[in-house]
Amino acid sequence: MKSFLANRPDAPSRCTFTLNGDQSECPHNLGSRQKSLRQKIYNNVLELIGDTPLVRINRLVCDAGVKCNVLAKLEYLNPGGSVKDRIGLRMIEEAERNGSLKPGDTIIESTAGNTGIGLALVCAVDILRALGTEIVRTPINATFDSPESDIAVAHQLKTQIPNSHILDQYRNPYNPIAHYDTTAEEILEACNGDIAMVVAGAGTGGTLTGLSRKLKERCPNCIIVGVDTEGSILALPEAMNKIGITFYEVEGIGHDFIPTVLDRSLVDRWYKSTDMISLKYSRKLIKDEGILCGGSSGAAMACALQACKDFNLTENQNCVVILPDSVRNYMTKFLSDDWMYDHGFLGIKDKPSNEWWQTKSISSLLIREPITVSANTTIQSVLDIMYARGFDQIPVISDDG
Ligand SMILES: Cc1ncc(COP(=O)(O)O)c(C=O)c1O
Repeated sequence: MKSFLANRPDAPSRCTFTLNGDQSECPHNLGSRQKSLRQKIYNNVLELIGDTPLVRINRLVCDAGVKCNVLAKLEYLNPGGSVKDRIGLRMIEEAERNGSLKPGDTIIESTAGNTGIGLALVCAVDILRALGTEIVRTPINATFDSPESDIAVAHQLKTQIPNSHILDQYRNPYNPIAHYDTTAEEILEACNGDIAMVVAGAGTGGTLTGLSRKLKERCPNCIIVGVDTEGSILALPEAMNKIGITFYEVEGIGHDFIPTVLDRSLVDRWYKSTDMISLKYSRKLIKDEGILCGGSSGAAMACALQACKDFNLTENQNCVVILPDSVRNYMTKFLSDDWMYDHGFLGIKDKPSNEWWQTKSISSLLIREPITVSANTTIQSVLDIMYARGFDQIPVISDDG
């Protein structure tokens, strides 16, 4: 039978390797490989939290006409996929240390997702031996002080579940301390203490507060830029927040209250991003830099590029931008052209409906004739056919067609 495949996946190999064979034609790199700085074997995934890489941004920087080094800290490379692994680990360690959290207890946390994943990851590995994670969904548009908000539901659950604890990322001092002790140290070390600007979004504000406290101590001239989103009230001066919008799509940044751990006195300049700009820049980071980040990373990067220009950062100066999480959480959202169009973030000219195949008929496709069975065929025969063909479904045609 004629194959539909131009190149069969089981065609003879073109690889010339033979065990102990002639190496003159060998395709493998026989030179010494650059040694990885990471250790070889880790005792568990918690040892992989932190020490995330700083990666130079190239095309976006060039397109924006920015002169300085823009360095993205890829927090999505934490094992749980976000910056929140850091605080998950630290908040649990401290709660265990002070004796408030014991094996068998329940942890409740209001979270958009990443902190929940971070906590679940730590519990899965840690001595607490988690029995599993349960998700209680709450409406995203509930105000923080309404009874159906994530925070109110967490408090409600705490009254119902014995031996339960809310680690409370909004008030827990070990949220910013985790960043003071790790994220900021890693940045200082990677840049040899030479950092002109740090840009981070604010959700709870733990990242921004922890980073600014350490950097203001060790690198006093470093400019701290906070990123908020339109629809949120975290930025200063207050006038920046009074625009009559309360809803936004970008997740992880912004709130309708000022979290206790957010110390706004250390932020030199706030920038506000819009959904349109944030999502556009996340897609650019993915497409032009291969950085598979989430929506708030686009907000941070867009504001960072603007801030580099506003503060006239020059060649050799370092601007570090925190990219908090990965696109994994948003596959059906801003990664999808259809979603972007439906939500008004793509214009009519980018409408994802003008595909060449949309007007073609099914008969123009090279599809094999379907295999069907009659209702009288034995179950065993049908299973034999399905097994042989690799089908998981087969149409059954009745006697009258
Ligand atoms: C997805 C996501 N997670 C976490 C953070 C950091 O938040 P926090 O201010 O709570 O440290 C951000 C901030 O940009 C974020 O976008």
